[in-house]
Amino acid sequence: MNNQLQKDMWNGRAGASWVRHNSLLEELLSEPGRRCMELFDLPSSAQVLDVGCGCGNQTLEWASRLDPSCNITGVDISEPMLALAENLKSANQSSPQASVSFLLGDASEALFPEASFDAIYSRFGVMFFADPRAAFAQLRRALKQNGQLGFVCWQSPALNPFFTAPMQAALTVLPPPPPAKPGAPGPFGLADKERTHRVLSEAGFGEVTIRPLQLELSAGAERTFDDLFQELIQIGPAAALIAESDPVAGEQAKTEVYKTLREFYSLGEGVRFEANFWLITARN
Ligand SMILES: C[S@@+](CC[C@H](N)C(=O)[O-])C[C@H]1O[C@@H](n2cnc3c(N)ncnc32)[C@H](O)[C@@H]1O
Repeated sequence: MNNQLQKDMWNGRAGASWVRHNSLLEELLSEPGRRCMELFDLPSSAQVLDVGCGCGNQTLEWASRLDPSCNITGVDISEPMLALAENLKSANQSSPQASVSFLLGDASEALFPEASFDAIYSRFGVMFFADPRAAFAQLRRALKQNGQLGFVCWQSPALNPFFTAPMQAALTVLPPPPPAKPGAPGPFGLADKERTHRVLSEAGFGEVTIRPLQLELSAGAERTFDDLFQELIQIGPAAALIAESDPVAGEQAKTEVYKTLREFYSLGEGVRFEANFWLITARN
């Protein structure tokens, strides 16, 4: 199995959208990433890998938390997202900082020598593997003995209105996309806790721990709803469905999404969505 579909997506519309809306996405999503970072217990001179690092915000956040004897590598399949990561790195030279490098590559392949890293981290970057068990086994080989894996991923769509509310609104107008198979690569690829536990155990990890994390995602406290909407309508699965639809029906769907998202907005607070994640840790 290979990850070609994901490579096309993240080098195409999805990657372009994450680059264009990087600031808003970071405002919404920085907290779950930080909560995950707090679970790591790193040795001195730690070597850290950020899987599916995207535009590199979390890689750079790690660098600001570690001292200059440490190294952090961000790996991703998306050229446009890594291009932004390199730009953000050049603009972000405050010290003290761990050294940062970015690498274009498929994290499920043998990119690194065995036992290269003390820790492997990911915020929303490990749910897209066509063969998760093989991919996590490959990542485990890159970890030192007793090295830590820690990542944060979404729980089921039903617990995450950030995805489902715009989609349900769009579906009042547009035909539904083909149903995704449970566990298929995508934002909810690791939403099934038991299956994820099994995948990691079969990949050879021990001490697999899966904790729920509930947060309120918020953004745009100083922005009008109309301004925020121009961005929100271009993010996520509803945006993809609208982009692929007939233009007239697409415009009607946007009107429905506007009405729905307006309910998540209040003046002075911006948009707020209850969100549910899994915080997952394991050891080699
Ligand atoms: C939802 S984005 C998250 C990006 C970043 N971690 C963040 O939180 O801002 C998912 C990322 O995983 C990357 N990705 C998907 N499959 C991958 C693979 N097999 N190897 C490396 N990166 C992958 C995508 O290119 C994308 O940048």
